[in-house]
Amino acid sequence: MSFEKNVTVSGIKDKVIIITGASSGIGEAAALLLAERGAKIVLGARGVDRLEALAERIVNRCGEAIYARTDVQQREDLSSLVTLAAERYGKLDVFINNAGVMPISPLDELRIEDWEAMIDINLKGVLYGIAAALPVFRKQGFGHFVNTSSTAGHKTVPNQSVYSGTKFAVRAISEGLRQEAGDQLRVTVISPGIVRTNFTESVTNKEVRDRLAAIRDELAMPPDAVARAIAFAIEQPADIDVNEIVIRPTAQV
Ligand SMILES: NC(=O)c1ccc[n+]([C@@H]2O[C@H](COP(=O)([O-])OP(=O)(O)OC[C@H]3O[C@@H](n4cnc5c(N)ncnc54)[C@H](OP(=O)(O)O)[C@@H]3O)[C@@H](O)[C@H]2O)c1
Repeated sequence: MSFEKNVTVSGIKDKVIIITGASSGIGEAAALLLAERGAKIVLGARGVDRLEALAERIVNRCGEAIYARTDVQQREDLSSLVTLAAERYGKLDVFINNAGVMPISPLDELRIEDWEAMIDINLKGVLYGIAAALPVFRKQGFGHFVNTSSTAGHKTVPNQSVYSGTKFAVRAISEGLRQEAGDQLRVTVISPGIVRTNFTESVTNKEVRDRLAAIRDELAMPPDAVARAIAFAIEQPADIDVNEIVIRPTAQV
């Protein structure tokens, strides 16, 4: 099956949407909401058991979802995910580059493996997603990237410099992509503040992890709030590009 003979649609119903990092948190919430609104969801993450359970939940609610084990550090995994969408549905409307990790710590601790993980997953992973989907979007003549940055992509604070650097970079790359995209493609950056998800699990510094978890438990917003923002960007008419949404709990400074 090829991507060639399709036309773009407005709204959410019947759109084919790939979500990376779909096994928990924001990605999972977006998958559930978009499936409920009639999209066909292609789920990617490393945790294949959780993807299987999520796909089953969606199908049990009369939605449509398929999944494939995807490590965004592996360029070929992203290509395979796009091929899966092609083979099953014959088109790709939206690619949500959502996978990310946040093992933050002071630079003095030289947790270089954590720095590399953030660069490889949050930054190179997004570029690999773009590389996999952009040629398809060009061929079809339509397509929409939704890239997850963060309020940390707008302002950095101590201990977050590398994470923040990857999220500033996601905004810069997305803006460049938007400028190059022309009038057929759309590019949206979603910049959430603190969200109630599993993101603290990747923090290797226990003190930082506990502090972050306490802040999250005190003021985080539910991942559904971010899913609604993603849905808002996707449901706009094809000639309207919501460029960026910054969304945070009112209690977050
Ligand atoms: N939570 C927040 O406060 C917050 C705020 C701003 C921005 N964000 C961003 O939102 C995005 C989603 O995070 P979340 O808060 O929903 O956290 P989460 O619940 O920890 O979800 C992260 C997702 O990314 C996936 N992932 C991690 N490494 C991966 C890899 N190498 N390949 C493929 N998937 C990978 C995880 O699945 P597997 O482990 O199964 O692969 C999981 O599905 C991230 O980009 C994060 O930076 C979060």
